[in-house]
Amino acid sequence: MIALFPKKTQNFHWVFEKIAFDKSLSHRSIIFAFLCEGECEIKDFLISEDTLATLEIAKNLGARVWSNGSFVSIQAPKQRNSCVVLDCKNSGTSMRLFTGLLSGNEGSYQLIGDTSLCQRPMQRIFEPLMLMGARFKGEFAPFELWGSAKLKGIRYCSPIASAQLKSAFILSALQAKGQSFFTEPFLSRDHSERFLSFLGAGIEKKGSELWISPLKEKLKSYSITIPNDPSSVIFFVVAVLISCNVSAVFKNVLLNPTRIDALEVLKKMGARIEYRVLQCGFEEIGEIEVASSSLVGIEISEKIAWLIDEIPVLCIAMACAKGKSLISCAKELRYKESDRIASVVFNLKKLGIEAEEKEDGLMIYGGEFCSGEVESFGDHRIAMSFALVGIKVPIVLKGEECVGVSFPQFFDLLDLFVNKEQICK
Ligand code: S3P
Repeated sequence: MIALFPKKTQNFHWVFEKIAFDKSLSHRSIIFAFLCEGECEIKDFLISEDTLATLEIAKNLGARVWSNGSFVSIQAPKQRNSCVVLDCKNSGTSMRLFTGLLSGNEGSYQLIGDTSLCQRPMQRIFEPLMLMGARFKGEFAPFELWGSAKLKGIRYCSPIASAQLKSAFILSALQAKGQSFFTEPFLSRDHSERFLSFLGAGIEKKGSELWISPLKEKLKSYSITIPNDPSSVIFFVVAVLISCNVSAVFKNVLLNPTRIDALEVLKKMGARIEYRVLQCGFEEIGEIEVASSSLVGIEISEKIAWLIDEIPVLCIAMACAKGKSLISCAKELRYKESDRIASVVFNLKKLGIEAEEKEDGLMIYGGEFCSGEVESFGDHRIAMSFALVGIKVPIVLKGEECVGVSFPQFFDLLDLFVNKEQICK
């Protein structure tokens, strides 16, 4: 449990150089090494519970890993170990992407996770992978996977816009015989296709369809540097927006368009935000400038896949905004580390903000926060979002330790904005 109190943050310009390195790219930088020849080097790998789960699984599969702080070098084994138990902890990305990778491997695996991960839908990845030739026992984690060296390419039309599903499909399709085709109802984050194409994989976008050709040989090894994670930076963007007379610049941030739509939503709410791309490899990287702003309510029902991780913190901005906000077409929020619609509405109500739960979203009436006690529901993004309310009024946050999943230094950075006092119980 942590108590957070407001502190004067007026008239200050912050420069953030290092926030938290990107989680999606960190996972992929380890998992994709299994398709490469030779040693891959990763600078600024995110050290967090989720990404360390991925690294541990890589070691269990026989990869040779050497690390020093946030530098990691990894060499995949000639033959992946099988008959192993792979603990994905809280990480949906580890579970779904490793399942895709291992579906092409003759052998069996047991994939396990924590209580939250064991409640998240896995059938969505089993369906296309079974059509390709993998076999599964169990509907949710823990489950068993039997991979096959004889996967066949398929055409699959996904009913859900999910980057984890798409990535599992791509990893499986790269190891299959024959071309595969994939469509999704809306483009989900596209790191896998960008990264793997950069490594030489045959992945092409034709209209709205992805064409994936099986790998003829191992991919070339890589040396990459990972930028700051826009889904972590956003907490401090909102912190600045809801403080008085503060401005900030965030440097070296991943600015892939599928990841920064929350900045566009905030701009439409009246936020003073500018961002610019300064570097472009297989991903755009640049900086974001923000200044405290008066916000107005907004309705969102589109591009939800581009906002999925940011909606909880956008809800804090909406609670501070003038007027009503409505989020709809966002049922996917119910299948994250917690049911984010229920978690957000529960906590907002505890803090005196009028909010209503809808089946596929929520309604928020902007107002003044009252002091109160809120819960993380074991969900890192719920914990970090509600911790920001401490900028406005004193609050107590229960279960804050889950921030270690994606952003272990979160409370140290938040110390720049608020006074915090540990209450150990
Ligand atoms: C992720 C994809 C997203 C996101 C998650 C990370 C990824 O999930 O919520 O935090 O790295 O591929 P979806 O599978 O819902 O797109």
